[in-house]
Amino acid sequence: MRHVPALIVAVTLVSGVMVTAQDKKPPEKLVFQSKGGDAIFTHATHIDREKGECATCHPKLWPQSAQEPLKSSDGCRTCHKAGGRAFEMKGNCVQCHPNASAKTP
Ligand code: HEC
Ligand code: HEC
Ligand code: HEC
Repeated sequence: MRHVPALIVAVTLVSGVMVTAQDKKPPEKLVFQSKGGDAIFTHATHIDREKGECATCHPKLWPQSAQEPLKSSDGCRTCHKAGGRAFEMKGNCVQCHPNASAKTP
């Protein structure tokens, strides 16, 4: 079965090209500097949970660019709120600001 590895490589290359054509390569993790301490966004983990649906966040909530600093965490709040899909912001500061001296209410 010497052809199998070659086939896998070919498929990987093709899908890589397709991702580039549709979307820019997603970063693993993004760190935003803020007055509340660095905020971590686990980009890859969020993509997995959205089953690869970039459109959940792009371009509706954010552009596919981290060139500009994130202006607000309002987009995070669409899911990170009481009764939302993810832990709410209040009381969970350290989940996003791991080295926050930020007052944890
Ligand atoms: C849960 C929300 C979410 C999902 C889903 C998501 N992203 Fe993102 N992505 C973000 C946020 C937030 C940023 C930072 C935006 C900013 O800084 O203004 C970002 C930034 C990016 C960037 C810019 C990185 C840089 O360093 O400039 C790329 C490229 C990107 N995303 C690609 C993707 C692709 C491809 C997918 C789907 C496979 C995807 N994203 C799915 C939230 C998401
Ligand atoms: C779901 C993730 C998340 C949680 C939870 C969270 N933050 Fe943030 N926070 C961010 C992101 C992303 C930014 C950067 C964008 C911005 O400045 O709004 C930020 C920015 C900030 C800033 C700077 C805002 C500004 O205007 O300069 C402060 C202060 C802050 N957070 C404090 C807190 C406190 C206190 C808590 C807990 C009550 C908290 N954060 C919980 C993600 C989060
Ligand atoms: C589309 C919905 C959605 C958006 C938008 C979103 N998150 Fe999340 N996030 C989730 C879910 C779902 C979880 C996992 C559930 C939980 O832990 O409550 C999660 C978990 C996290 C975690 C814990 C580590 C991990 O990935 O499991 C961090 C940190 C985090 N989010 C930060 C952010 C920040 C910062 C933003 C905004 C830049 C953001 N999230 C925007 C849905 C979202």
